[in-house]
Amino acid sequence: MAQQEEVFKKLVSHCKEYGYVFPSSEIYDGLAAVYDYGQMGVELKNNIKKYWWDSMVLLHENVVGLDSAIFMHPTVWKASGHVDAFNDPLIDNKDSKKRYRADVLIEEHLAKYDEKIEKEVQKAARRFGESFDEQMFRETNPRVLETRQKRDEIHARFTKALNDNNLEELRQIIIDCEIVCPISGTRNWTEVRQFNLMFSTEMGSTADGAMKVFLRPETAQGIFVNFLNVQKTSRLKIPFGIAQIGKAFRNEIVARQFIFRMREFEQMEMQFFVSPGEELKWFEHWKAFRMKWHQALGFGAEKYRFHDHDKLAHYANAASDIEFEMPFGFKEVEGIHSRTDFDLSQHEKYSGKKLQYFDPEQNRSYIPYVVETSIGVDRMFLSILAATYCEETLEGGEVRALLKLPPALAPVKLAILPLVRKDGLPGKAREIMNELKFSFACQYDEKDSIGKRYRRQDAIGTPFCATIDHQTLEDNTVTIRYRDTMAQERVTIDSLQQVIAEKTDLKYLLKQLTR
Ligand code: GAP
Repeated sequence: MAQQEEVFKKLVSHCKEYGYVFPSSEIYDGLAAVYDYGQMGVELKNNIKKYWWDSMVLLHENVVGLDSAIFMHPTVWKASGHVDAFNDPLIDNKDSKKRYRADVLIEEHLAKYDEKIEKEVQKAARRFGESFDEQMFRETNPRVLETRQKRDEIHARFTKALNDNNLEELRQIIIDCEIVCPISGTRNWTEVRQFNLMFSTEMGSTADGAMKVFLRPETAQGIFVNFLNVQKTSRLKIPFGIAQIGKAFRNEIVARQFIFRMREFEQMEMQFFVSPGEELKWFEHWKAFRMKWHQALGFGAEKYRFHDHDKLAHYANAASDIEFEMPFGFKEVEGIHSRTDFDLSQHEKYSGKKLQYFDPEQNRSYIPYVVETSIGVDRMFLSILAATYCEETLEGGEVRALLKLPPALAPVKLAILPLVRKDGLPGKAREIMNELKFSFACQYDEKDSIGKRYRRQDAIGTPFCATIDHQTLEDNTVTIRYRDTMAQERVTIDSLQQVIAEKTDLKYLLKQLTR
C-alpha cells in the first residue's frame, strides 16, 4: 500500500507538471477539494465525455440528450428528498479537531479485516505452493474464520444502524471497534450529527424578494422535471432514456484523494424510463452495458468489480456500483440505480402537474419507473490516469514517465517532429501538420533534442510521433514512433492520415460495445 501511495503522489504531481490538473486558485493557496483542468486535462475530459455521450446517445436510438440548468426551483429539492435526507453522518475528534464521516471510518475499519484475511491467504499460498486449495483454506482456517466472524458482526451492526438512521449506534460502533483518529491517535469522539451536503445561494436582488436556491447536487433532477417535455417533443415510446452531462456540487465533509471527492464535479447521467415491473430487467441490462463500456478501454477486467449496496437510497429498489481499483483501493466510479417511480411521483405531488405517460400498447397511463446510470467524469478521469501512469527504466538507466492512454482518449493523437531545426525540415513538418490538423489533434514541436521531445510526448500520453528527417525530403516518407513499444516504422506521408485515424478513431472503441 505504501508503494501505491507513492505512485499516487507521483501521479498528482505529474498531473500538475504536464497541464492535466491544477489546484483551484493556486496563487491564493488553493480552495479545498476544488480543481482546475489544464490544457491537457480539458482535452482528456472532453474525450471521456464524447466516449460516454456517443456510447449512450449515438448508439441507442431510444436515448436522447438534454442540457438542463444548474439552478432549479427550490421545491425540486424538497420533492426529491435532498432537503431532508441528503445528509452525511459526521463525527469530530476533539483532540485533532478533525472532522470525519462516521460511515467512512467504519468502512475503512471493515476493510482492514478483509486485508487481514487476504494476507493470511497469500501467506498460506506461498507456504503450500502448488498443492494449495484456496477455497478449502478460506472455509476452514481458524484465523480466517475468526476474522470473518468479527467482520460480519460489525458489518451487520453497521448496516442496521445505517438503515435505521441510528446515529448513536454509529458512534457506539466506532467506540467498540476502538477506531482512533489518524491525526491525534485518540478515541476522543464527539456525537455523530447529520450534515446536509447541498450548497445554497440567493436568487434575486432585494432582501425581501430573494429566494434561497440550491446548486444542484446531481444532474438527474433536471431530467425528471423535463421528462414529459422531451417525451412529447421527441415522440419517443417507453422504454427510452434521457442523457445529460453537467456540473454538480456537494459540500463534502471529507474531501480527500485529489479529484476523487470534489465539491464541484461533473456527472454523466442517464435516466431510462420503463414500464412498471420491467425495471429490474433493465437494471441488469444497463449494469452489463456500463461494465462493457469500462472494460472496452483495455485496462484489464480484474480492475473492476460490482458492489451491491447494503443500504439502498430512499428512492431505490436495487443499486450497484462499478468500482475501479484506484491506488487507494477499489472505489466507486459509477452507480447504477433502479429508482422506481419515486422521483416522478414526488414531482407530480409537489408540482400538482401530471407526469404520466400514456402507453399505447397497454392502453393506460402510468408513472414510468426509472433505471439510472450515473458516472462522475472526474472519477473516470482519475481511474484512467491511475491505470495508465507508469515509469519505465530504459537501457542506459534513464527513466521515462508515460501515460499509456487509450489512443482514442489521448489529448494529442500525433506529435509532428522535425528531426532538426534546419535543412527545410520544419517547413515540411508544418506542411504535414496543416494537412492533418483537420482530422485529429496534432502537436508540432521542434524544440530540444528528438529524445527529449519523445519523453515530453510520452509524459502527456501521445500515442504516436511522426518524425520528419532528411529522407522525408527525398522520398516523402516519415517514421511513426509508437509510445508504448518505442518501435518505429516508416510510412508514406500520403498514408499517414489513414494510419493514425485507424488507430485513434473513437469509432473502434464504440464498435466494441455493439459486439
Ligand atoms: N443521481 C445519482 C447520483 O448522483 P451518486 O452515487 O451520489 O448518485 C454518482 O453519484 C457518481 O457521481 C459517483 O459514482 C461518482 O462518480 C460521482 N460523484 C459523486 N460525488 C462526487 C464527488 N464529491 N466528487 C467527484 N465525483 C463524485
